[in-house]
Amino acid sequence: MAGTFFIQARALGCWNLSRQMKRGSRTESAADFAHSADPEIRVALPEDARDIASIYAQYVSDTVVSLEERAPSEAEMRERIVRTLEFTPWLVASLNGRVAGYAYAQRHRERAAYRWAVDVSVYVDPALHRRRIGTALYRELFAILARQGFRRVCAGLTYPNAGSEGLHRAMGFVPIGIYRRIGWKFGRWHDTLWMQREIGGDEPPTDPVPFARLKVRTDYDGYAPRKGGSSR
Ligand SMILES: CC(C)(COP(=O)(O)OP(=O)(O)OC[C@H]1O[C@@H](n2cnc3c(N)ncnc32)[C@H](O)[C@@H]1OP(=O)(O)O)[C@@H](O)C(=O)NCCC(=O)NCCS
Repeated sequence: MAGTFFIQARALGCWNLSRQMKRGSRTESAADFAHSADPEIRVALPEDARDIASIYAQYVSDTVVSLEERAPSEAEMRERIVRTLEFTPWLVASLNGRVAGYAYAQRHRERAAYRWAVDVSVYVDPALHRRRIGTALYRELFAILARQGFRRVCAGLTYPNAGSEGLHRAMGFVPIGIYRRIGWKFGRWHDTLWMQREIGGDEPPTDPVPFARLKVRTDYDGYAPRKGGSSR
C-alpha cells in the first residue's frame, strides 16, 4: 500500500524560528516544531488527516486561496486522502513527526484523453512559509508523477496569489490563461490563473500506473521502504 513508503527530503537546512505558532488548539514554540533536522517528505497516511485539515482550514476560512467555502472535517479529509491515493500521490512534509505542509495530485479531467494530465495543489503551514517546504514537496511529487507516466501538470490558483504563482514559476510552470470572475467567495468574484509544466515528452504515452499499484524499488532515488513495511 502506498503508505508503506517514505521519502527523505534532501538538503533543506535548519530553521531558526522564534515566534509562537498556533496550530489548532495547541500553541507552542515554532522553534520546537521547526528547528530540527530536515523534514521528511513521505506519503500521507489517513492519520495525517487532522493536521492536514487544520492547515487547510486556515486557508478556507480566512482567504480565497481555496475557493471552498466550508473547511472539510478531519473525517472528510481522511476520505479525500484515501481516495486520492488510489490513483495519484498525496505527500506530506513532516517535521518532528508533525505535518508542516502537504501536496497532492488529482486527475485534470475525467475524459479519457486527459488521463496523462493532473492538477496539483500544495499547502504549507503559514508559520513555515519560504523555507523550501513547498519546493521539497513538489520536487518529490513530480518525480513520482513522472514515474507513473503522467505528462502534464496543471495548477489552478485564485489570482492574484504571489506565493503560489512564485512557487509554480520557480518549479517551471508557465501561465496558460486566466478564468475571469469564475469563483464567488466573500462577496465578490475571483479570477483563476492556470499554469502548466511538462514532466515528459510528446512521444505516444502508455497508460499511467495508478499510485496504489506503483512498484517502489529501494534503489529508486529518494525512496526506501519504511522500516517494517514492504515494497510492492
Ligand atoms: C505557495 C506555498 C505552498 C509556497 O510554499 P513555500 O514552502 O513557502 O515555498 P518555498 O519556500 O519552497 O519557495 C520556493 C520559491 O517559490 C517562490 N515563492 C514562494 N513564496 C513566494 C512569495 N510569497 N512571493 C513570491 N515568490 C514566492 C520563490 O521563488 C521561492 O524561492 P526563494 O525563497 O528562493 O525566493 C505557500 O506560500 C503556501 O502554503 N501558500 C498558501 C497556500 C497556497 O497558496 N497554495 C497553492 C494553492 S494552488
